[in-house]
Amino acid sequence: MAYRRIEGLGELRDKRALVRVDFNVPLDGGAVADDFRILSALPTIRRLQEAGARVVLCSHLGRPKGKPNPEFSLRPVAARLAELLEAEVAFCETTVGAEAEAATHALSSGGVLLIENLRFNPGEKSNDAEFAAELAKLGDVYVNDAFGVCHRAAASVVKIAELLPAACGDLIAAEVDALSPLREGTAPRPFVVVLGGAKLGTKIPVLQALLPRTDAVCVGGGMAYTLLKAMGKSIGASRCEEDLLETAGEILEASRLRMRETGQELVLPRDHIVAKGPNADLAGYDCVEEVPDGLMALDIGPASVAEFLRVLRTAKTVFWNGPLGVFEIPPFHLGTEQVATFLAGRAGDCHTIVGGGDSAAAARQLGLADRMAWVSTGGGASLLFVQGEELPGLAALPEAS
Ligand code: 3PG
Repeated sequence: MAYRRIEGLGELRDKRALVRVDFNVPLDGGAVADDFRILSALPTIRRLQEAGARVVLCSHLGRPKGKPNPEFSLRPVAARLAELLEAEVAFCETTVGAEAEAATHALSSGGVLLIENLRFNPGEKSNDAEFAAELAKLGDVYVNDAFGVCHRAAASVVKIAELLPAACGDLIAAEVDALSPLREGTAPRPFVVVLGGAKLGTKIPVLQALLPRTDAVCVGGGMAYTLLKAMGKSIGASRCEEDLLETAGEILEASRLRMRETGQELVLPRDHIVAKGPNADLAGYDCVEEVPDGLMALDIGPASVAEFLRVLRTAKTVFWNGPLGVFEIPPFHLGTEQVATFLAGRAGDCHTIVGGGDSAAAARQLGLADRMAWVSTGGGASLLFVQGEELPGLAALPEAS
């Protein structure tokens, strides 16, 4: 699907462009701790500035439950954006109303304003028509560039698109271009999926959607241990989603059939880095093939890494979502680091797409993000898009004419 782009909005000089961005970024001590999502919005912001528009940015940050909470203020984001743009960014302490409206009119051509957290108002999450009408007073046109929140039917994402001439920004267009071949099953083969992260439950839909279109699936992280338990392996004190054991058994059975019919592999960890818990202070960790009672698997071991790399060596497309161990606590980052480094090394002949969230953060922390074909800004949104769901924020955008 091609959506109307910014150029489809006509002459923008001096017009107020209300831009929905996803500046839901981690903060640390009152400053932005990871500016990936802000950096990703810059092409659209700059393009609108160059077109002479007055740029009014709006976003949510965190989950403040519909009322103002200074902990979730976007003010630190305005400061970081100003540094990145090397330009002044005005900040309005209210989200809608007379003060916010006046601030949009006070902007000069090419000027940038960020309004306060949309989720300080309950109407944002409930896609409320009145709140959307208030927001619509802040712009003459509307641009959605918040791919990461397109799976939420929020007022600034859905309702607003009915009220102003609307278009998608450059980030959404790039996300849709990068992720569509995975969704449509047109990605160059062999296509390998690497899934990790703590919970099998959140990944089952994407696993089931992608399994029929892939050549191999490698599973690590906490989610692997429910599958291993369903196979009858001992998993010690590792995470297990007991309520999903039956589904895990069905996934394994389906994959055994596919292995026989098509050769498609489901690769699970065969060795594990274990410790008493994911706490760096706990003395001692070990590499084992069977997880002993009382110990927890916190990363995939070297034999598992070797198995993953064997499958990834010939891949032409890889979709990677979720770390393969407790990445944030060394030494349990090694499995993720080794697999990510291998994929980065194949940048020339394998198209690796990193689904957002923790795997995107891991790729950036490792300094490998630039060597991936695409690192999505969406967490839940990219998973739902890839598995073929309709995202309300995209469905609300007009098609390109
Ligand atoms: C995200 O971080 O995935 C998006 O910003 C959406 O945030 P939410 O899960 O709080 O709606």
